[in-house]
Amino acid sequence: MTQYHFPINRFALSQHGTALLIFPTNSVSVGEAQFVIESPIMAVYEPWDETRGAEIITEHANREGATLLILHALQEAFGYVPEPAIPMVAAALNLSRAEVYGVFTFYHDFRKEPAGRHVLKLCRAEACQAAGGDALAARAEAKLGIACGNTTADNRVTLEPIYCLGLCATAPSAMLDGRLVGRLDQTRLDALIAEAQQ
Ligand code: FES
Repeated sequence: MTQYHFPINRFALSQHGTALLIFPTNSVSVGEAQFVIESPIMAVYEPWDETRGAEIITEHANREGATLLILHALQEAFGYVPEPAIPMVAAALNLSRAEVYGVFTFYHDFRKEPAGRHVLKLCRAEACQAAGGDALAARAEAKLGIACGNTTADNRVTLEPIYCLGLCATAPSAMLDGRLVGRLDQTRLDALIAEAQQ
């Protein structure tokens, strides 16, 4: 497969609000070509640390759309949004805890707990549903022995729903550790699960 690499600082782009939604992933496969978005952010997470959390919050507190930016930044750093960070964000932005918690829970991408070693996201939005996504999700849950939104007991795989990966034309779609996969069927799903379980 031919790979084309694009060095893009996703975190810097996120200052423009929607960029993290436009570039939520690291690579896209189109036919025999793979387009890789190179980000300086490594998938190696720091353990939660209040001082580090405060630094991250301060860094973004004065930016437009600060709540989302901070929540994204916290998850990028720690792999999830630690609960103690919620009141810290609220205090820094002069919001109520409920307001920050409301944003946190509205977006399915934010995690309450650290993910497993691999994250398999299955698209549950309309186009993928219409193309058989529900049956594939049920198959994934049965094979992994967990419901969507959970992590296997051996901590290898987190199975998450996602609501449109921008690959509706090749629905149903999925994403394994930032790699997009379209035209998902039982065989491809099984292969993704086997890869994630390694
Ligand atoms: S609805 Fe699944 S990729 Fe858009």
